[in-house]
Order: sequence, then C-alpha cells, then structure tokens
Amino acid sequence: MSDTAKLQVPGKDVEYPILSGSVGPDVIDIRKLYGQTGKFTYDPGFTSTASCESGLTYIDGDEGILLHRGYPIGQLAEHSSFMEVSYLLLNGELPNQDELTAFENTITRHTMLHEQLATFYRGFRRDAHPMAVMCGVAGALSAFYHDSTDITDPKQRMIASHRLIAKMPTIAAMAYKYSVGQPFLYPDNKLSYTGNFLRMTFGVPAEEYVVNPVIEKAMDRIFILHADHEQNASTSTVRLAGSSGANPFACIAAGIACLWGPAHGGANEAALNMLREIGRPERIPEYIARAKDKNDPFRLMGFGHRVYKNYDPRATVMQKTVREVFDALKVNDPVFEVALQLEEMALNDPYFIEKKLFPNVDFYSGVILSAIGFPTTMFTALFALARTVGWVAQWNEMISDPEQKIGRPRQLYTGPVQRDYVPVEKR
Ligand code: SDX
Repeated sequence: MSDTAKLQVPGKDVEYPILSGSVGPDVIDIRKLYGQTGKFTYDPGFTSTASCESGLTYIDGDEGILLHRGYPIGQLAEHSSFMEVSYLLLNGELPNQDELTAFENTITRHTMLHEQLATFYRGFRRDAHPMAVMCGVAGALSAFYHDSTDITDPKQRMIASHRLIAKMPTIAAMAYKYSVGQPFLYPDNKLSYTGNFLRMTFGVPAEEYVVNPVIEKAMDRIFILHADHEQNASTSTVRLAGSSGANPFACIAAGIACLWGPAHGGANEAALNMLREIGRPERIPEYIARAKDKNDPFRLMGFGHRVYKNYDPRATVMQKTVREVFDALKVNDPVFEVALQLEEMALNDPYFIEKKLFPNVDFYSGVILSAIGFPTTMFTALFALARTVGWVAQWNEMISDPEQKIGRPRQLYTGPVQRDYVPVEKR
C-alpha cells in the first residue's frame, strides 16, 4: 500500500496518493483535489509543484548534483561531446560508435537553412538583439518545414527535432554575421557540430578559417553544460506551448522568448555586464552591499538559483574552462579576477550563506564567451542554441506521455465580484 497524504478542509477529510520517482522528492497526486474539495492549491512560481513526470534530467539542489539520464554532468563535460549528450537526451542511452556516427551524419545534413530564410534576416535592423532574431527565425521555420509539423507522427517529430538541433547554430551564426555586416557562411559538413558553428560565426569568405581545437572543445563543453535542466522556465514554456498541439518550431520559439529574460538565460549577458561595471576588485563591496539592500532592485547576476542551494556543478566546470581558454588564447581579462574575488566575498558573506546563494551556470560563462570573441548580446543566443536539444527532448517526452493534456492552471481571483454595467452618462 503506497503512502497517502491526508488533508483536512472544513467539513471534509480527503486523502491523496504519494507517488515516488527513482530518486528525489516524492509527489502528492492532487489531481482530484478540486473535484473533491472545490479548492485549488496556490503556488506562484511553482516552488512546490511538479508539472510532469520526466526521465531526462535530475537535479539535487542541496547536494549540487545534475544528472542527464543518470550520468553526472561533470563526467559528461569531461568525457563526452555535445552530439553524444544530444543523442543521450533524445534516446535515453549513450550511443555506440555506429549510432553516434549515424546521428552526427543526420544532424550534419540538416544544418543548411532554406535559402529564402536568409532574406528573412534583411527585415531586421543591423542592431537587432540576436535573441529577437532567434525568436523570429525559429518561429519562421514553421513556414518552411511543413513536412515535419504533424506532431502525431513520431517520424515527423524526430525530423523536426533533428532540424532544430542542426539549424540553431546556423541561425545563431547568421544573426551574429548580420549584426556585424559580414556575409553569411554556409555550413561545412567536414567540420564537427561545434567547429562548424565557430567557422560560420568567425570565418569570412576571403580566407580559410582554421578551427582552434582548444576553443572547439571548450565551446562544445559549454554547449553540454547548457543542454537541459529539468523543468526550468523556458522548458516549461516549451511544454506548455506543446501541450496545445502547437508545432515544434513554434514551441521552440516560445522557449527562446522565455529564456531571454535576465532572471533566466539572459543572466549570462547581465552577469558579464555587471562584472565589467564593477571593473575593479576594490569596487566589489559596494555591489555586494547593493545586492543585500532590500530597497535596491540590484541582484548579483549569475548568483542564486531556484533549485541549487549549493554550488551549481556547471559553474564549477565553467570556472575551470575559463583557465583553459585564457591559456589557449593568451588572454588575461581582469574581469575574471573580479569574478573570482566577487565569488569569494559573496560566499563568505552571511547574507549569501543564509539565503544559500551560489554562482550558477551564468556567472562565468560570459567571461569565456567574451574571451572567445562573442559580443555579450550573443551570450543568450548561445544558451538557446545549446538548450534546443533539451527543449526538443522534453517536448518529445511530453507528447509521448499518456497522461499529457493541455496545460491550464487556475487562479486565486481577487478582482471585483459581479456588478452591472453603468452607462457612460451616469459615471
Ligand atoms: C538560469 O531554473 C533553471 O534551471 C534555470 C537555469 C537553467 O539551466 O535553465 O539554471 C538557468 O536561469 C540560472 C539563473 C540565472 N539568473 C540569475 O543569475 C539572476 C540572478 N538570480 C536571481 O534573480 C534568483 O536567484 C533566481 C531568479 C535565479 C532564483 O530566484 P528564486 O528562486 O525565485 O528566489 P528568490 O528570488 O525568491 O530569492 C530568494 C531570496 C530573496 O531574498 P528575500 O526576499 O527572501 O529576502 O534570495 C535573494 C532574493 O532577494 N536573492 C538574491 C539573489 N538571488 C536571490 N539576492 C541578491 N542577488 C541574487 N542574485
């Protein structure tokens, strides 16, 4: 007999089953609550709400653990590749060599965009934020790839998933090229997924582009660190959009829009801007004081997390990667020292200790991306590029879930009760 949760509401005692997963907190199945009590639960921000069942990613926020299909992020970052992690998220198991080669060939052959989409970029201003371009172009894919929008057909779902994973680097690179007034480069199928992205971004038709293997490995690792993260805001947005039966391209465009916010994926851009604004270690105390000041809306960007109440394991890998990239590029940006000292001071400050605020994935990523040559406006676009595999994996899982239905939360209504219309001459 599984445990149950007993609830007493005025005039009624009710009991609900407690469900257990393979690891992590149990859930109380309250699906019958409203029908039996006429009451809703109330949980703004879903701090205590499980929206779905999933087998993709597990986070233990207290221990700072992140698993993708059971594999720790530190091991995947150290030994795997973004293509291999993409296969793992989509299919549930690490691929053997034949499976990996076949998957990489499939993705490689979907990297080109329909040629008319290139003219789509001309409609944007050159100074458009790359995330505005990503939102627009990702949504526009629905207008070009009609043969993979029938979500009831598993084959079409997989083609759409492969197209999205494959085309995001091309879309992001083109957004960058357009912003700097350089010509678009077509994908080069001889290169790796990440090498191809680096060439499309930083290469020019006038000369050969040689991929730096250290940067290629660091960029690939950064993609791994951003691939998926349980039911975060943008993934929940993709799931909610998908629950209405919207096509996958539209769902991913919705996810990109949500990721853009500075409280979410936009934090990597905001974190580097903050570190540059601080500028020197001696100015750190002023910003820590502002972050602690209730009357100041300023927050330490790249710090804190809804789930992690310990060090974000991705930030650990990210910090190590900064040193590798700096050594490879012989860069010595003082902003890294500011980041290190800011982390040190914050982690020893009672406010941050009591609220369990630690660096998250966004704290160091901008330092690396800036050293590689990306403008800060491209940082969230890179996050969206990598998170696309997580979004499509979660979207596929949701569509295949027999318990899936359209997402439709309720509310605690505090507006006016019914009243009669008053003609304007009597107001
Ligand atoms: C990502 O969900 C995911 O998994 C997201 C992500 C993913 O991979 O998908 O991990 C990616 O979005 C990482 C988070 C990036 N965002 C930032 O770095 C922005 C700065 N951080 C915060 O805005 C905040 O920490 C959030 C949004 C990340 C989490 O907010 P919560 O869980 O809603 O917590 P909260 O805002 O209620 O904060 C709890 C307390 C508050 O103080 P009190 O009202 O209790 O007194 O901590 C304080 C906050 O004021 N606080 C901070 C702070 N973050 C929280 N104080 C100063 N600086 C901060 N960064």
